[in-house]
Amino acid sequence: MAHPSRPIRIAPSILSADFSKIGEEVQAIDAAGADWIHLDVMDGDFVPNITFGPPVIRDLRRHSSKCFDAHLMISNPDPYIADFQQSGAEIITIHAEVCRHLDRSLAAIRDAGVKAGVAINPATPVDVIAHVLDRLDLILLMTVNPGFGGQKFIDAVVPKIAAVRDMVGDRDIDIEVDGGITVETAPLVAAAGANVLVAGSAVFGVRNPDDYAKNIEAIRTAALSAVGS
Ligand code: DX5
Ligand code: ZN
Repeated sequence: MAHPSRPIRIAPSILSADFSKIGEEVQAIDAAGADWIHLDVMDGDFVPNITFGPPVIRDLRRHSSKCFDAHLMISNPDPYIADFQQSGAEIITIHAEVCRHLDRSLAAIRDAGVKAGVAINPATPVDVIAHVLDRLDLILLMTVNPGFGGQKFIDAVVPKIAAVRDMVGDRDIDIEVDGGITVETAPLVAAAGANVLVAGSAVFGVRNPDDYAKNIEAIRTAALSAVGS
């Protein structure tokens, strides 16, 4: 059990929202108790899907003052860091798999004045982040292969969460998980040491805003049940 030192945060992913009314959707999850707003940026190259970029994030900014958590699933993030910072993203997470100079890219994110995160895919060993820990505010462990919402949680990632938790030690770093998070999987990831839980389909469901608060609370309660608080 139990790494209750950092608060459990629920970060709904707007990938599962109705994009034709995305501002209203962000307002709805904000009002429903989302801690952070998770923004999945996809380029059709690193992942086989395309979503949105800085102009959309900039326009969403006026719909919520919650933390904007930008997850960049793009092959070449370096030239766009300033654009994402200016759009109002407060955390910029890049994938280790695309960074030829990960240390330099992470330093550039902090130099832009925002928090720096690194994401790793299910098949990527945790060792790739061992020597950049002091450049990090967040580590994102993908619990599905990135690209789409609604995929099945990959159980093999759970031991990686525990390994990252040990690696982080007392550092001020959030451990985030993303993909297939539900009331069933939330206790597993929380017990292993994750404290930020991204959830798309489990929050948006059939896209009835009346359900969002109940869905967020169910995931939060399930996670907290595993960390004893
Ligand atoms: C997947 C995205 C996720 C996705 C999660 O590539 O990074 O944030 O929206 O969706 P669910 O919770 O439905 O697996
Ligand atoms: Zn994501």
